[in-house]
Amino acid sequence: MILIKLGGSIITNKEKPLSPRKKTIDGITKSLRKIKEPIIIIHGGGSYGHYWSVKYDMHTKERKYDIRGVSIIKNSMIELNKIILDSLLKNKLNPYALPPTDFMSGNKPILNKIKEIEKIAKSGLIPVTYGDALWFGKNKTYILSGDKIMTHFAKILKPRLCIFALNEDGLYSDLKSKKLISELKGNVPLMSENKMDVTGGMTRKVEEAVKISKMGINVFFVNGKKPERIVAVVKNREFKGTMFRGKRNG
Ligand code: IPE
Repeated sequence: MILIKLGGSIITNKEKPLSPRKKTIDGITKSLRKIKEPIIIIHGGGSYGHYWSVKYDMHTKERKYDIRGVSIIKNSMIELNKIILDSLLKNKLNPYALPPTDFMSGNKPILNKIKEIEKIAKSGLIPVTYGDALWFGKNKTYILSGDKIMTHFAKILKPRLCIFALNEDGLYSDLKSKKLISELKGNVPLMSENKMDVTGGMTRKVEEAVKISKMGINVFFVNGKKPERIVAVVKNREFKGTMFRGKRNG
C-alpha cells in the first residue's frame, strides 16, 4: 500500500485563482499506471480550496466561520477533485471518489471507514480524497488539509511508503542555491510562511512528513512535474528528491 499526496501547488497554479494544471495532472496519472501496488491518492486545494479559504478567512482552527465560505470551498474542491478523477479515468485507472466526510467525524478519523478504504485500494480501485472544509460540531467548521489526512491514513494503514508530489524537487537546505537535501536526518530547516496558504504550505508538509517517518514509514518529497520520480521511488530505483527515513523513536 502506498499513499500519494498531490500537492495543490503542483495540480494547480497557486498564483492564479481556479487554474488547474491539466497537463501536469495527466502526466502524473499516466505515470501512476506503472505502479502495480494498491495506492490511495490524496490531493490538496491549491488555487481552488486555498483561494476561497483566504477569501472567506477560513482556517484549520475549529470556529464559527461564514457558512457561505464553507459551501463555496466545498464546491470548489469537488470541482478540482472532478478534474483529477477525469484524468485518472482517461488514463485507464479506476478512481473511487471519497470526500473526507466519508471517513471523518468532526476532526477525528473513523477507524473502520479507513480500514475499508484499504480494502477498496486492494481491489484495484484507487481511492481518491482531498483536503476540504469540514463540519466540526456545535456550528463550528474547519479546514482539514490533505497533509493531515496523510498522517491519519498512515497511522491506521501503515503504508509501505508515503509520497508527497510537490512543485519543487524536494526540500532545500538553502532556498537561494536550491541545494537539495536528499535525506533528512535530525533537524528540519526553518522555512518562511506563505500567506496564500491557510494550512501552512511547506511547513505543514514537513511537520506531517516527520510525524509519519516517526511511525517507521519512509516519506518522500518529489517533484510532481517529473512523475517518473514517483515511479522510481515506488520501484526502489535511484530518484531525485528528499527522503525522510522512517525511524521509530527517532
Ligand atoms: C487544503 O488542502 C484544502 C482547502 C484549503 C480546502 P491542503 O492543505 O492539503 O492543500 P495544498 O496541497 O497545500 O494546496
